[in-house]
Amino acid sequence: MTIAVHESALIRHFNTRKETLRAWEEKIGARFSPFRGFKMPDSRLYVEHPDFLDSIVDLIITNERHIFLRGPVGSGKSTLMLLALRDLPTLADRRGNKFVTGYVGMTGLYEKQMAAAIADSLRIKYRRSWESSQIIEAVAKECVRRYIEEQSRTALFIEDVADNQEAAFHKLRYLADLPTEEMKDEYPRTLDEPIVTLVMSGTAEYWNAMLNFLPQIADRTEPLDIPKLEDGKAKEFIGRRIAYAKGEIDSFDPTDFDVYPFHEEAIEVINDAAGGNPRDIRMLARGCQQVAAENLRESGSPEINVEIARLVSEAYASILKEVR
Ligand SMILES: Nc1ncnc2c1ncn2[C@@H]1O[C@H](COP(=O)(O)OP(=O)(O)O)[C@@H](O)[C@H]1O
Ligand SMILES: [Mg+2]
Repeated sequence: MTIAVHESALIRHFNTRKETLRAWEEKIGARFSPFRGFKMPDSRLYVEHPDFLDSIVDLIITNERHIFLRGPVGSGKSTLMLLALRDLPTLADRRGNKFVTGYVGMTGLYEKQMAAAIADSLRIKYRRSWESSQIIEAVAKECVRRYIEEQSRTALFIEDVADNQEAAFHKLRYLADLPTEEMKDEYPRTLDEPIVTLVMSGTAEYWNAMLNFLPQIADRTEPLDIPKLEDGKAKEFIGRRIAYAKGEIDSFDPTDFDVYPFHEEAIEVINDAAGGNPRDIRMLARGCQQVAAENLRESGSPEINVEIARLVSEAYASILKEVR
């Protein structure tokens, strides 16, 4: 009996909160919360850094270095990878080679798991009973075949690369160094450049660790820092999400858009607290939505002003510090 009373109190509270938020969303003409998390990134929500994208594409196409996308948690490494992954198969390098892509999103992998994940991601067959070196040998052979017969280079994306077991790195290193000397001897005119480009991601701490433990790969890798969202882009981030929730994203104009019910200065306060980190901007904006929704009942206004933004930023300051 007691339990039932507690339960109903909790559920009642939960439902009231949901209704409060819903009323705010309805008031601004949104179909759902603009600040909910989406599992798959929708490129229409993406705030572009064109110069940064250019530098990544240039590096991949000129084929001189591997890439390490460097940034704190929530800065947008995974999102960027997934977008690059989608676009790369439509591009060609300066020699006219196309790209075959593979994506390893899991971490904490041992040697054999890493070998298997790479083979799976590149759709290369192997036997369960094989040793990791046999699997990687099959991957290497197939990458060579794709290069020679299909004029396709391989781009292999590895998320949070340093979160894997150390032995797993040797597999990566072997692929990073392809073609081997023997392969070059076998195909002297065709195999004269690297055929696998690694696109890795991780934090600055992990990059430093890689410099120490894996200098052989790090020396040939370009670290690229994910840009922070400056205020104009933070506004676009919020503007896009509001338009999305209103069903108006397809007519979004990045040079002329609305951030209502946010005051522009409120977004500056949020962005300052978030340090330009998109995940943190989203968390803070959602916090602001909650406060504004509570206000809406009394004031009738759904607006998010500087006071609300300050309140929420202060309340979240310690949480943000911890999750970073
Ligand atoms: N440039 C961007 N524009 C819009 N949203 C972004 C951008 N970068 C990241 N996000 C969002 O921020 C959140 C964190 O991004 P994520 O790629 O998972 O970061 P990381 O992999 O660095 O931890 C996701 O909700 C993502 O959709
Ligand atoms: Mg990530």
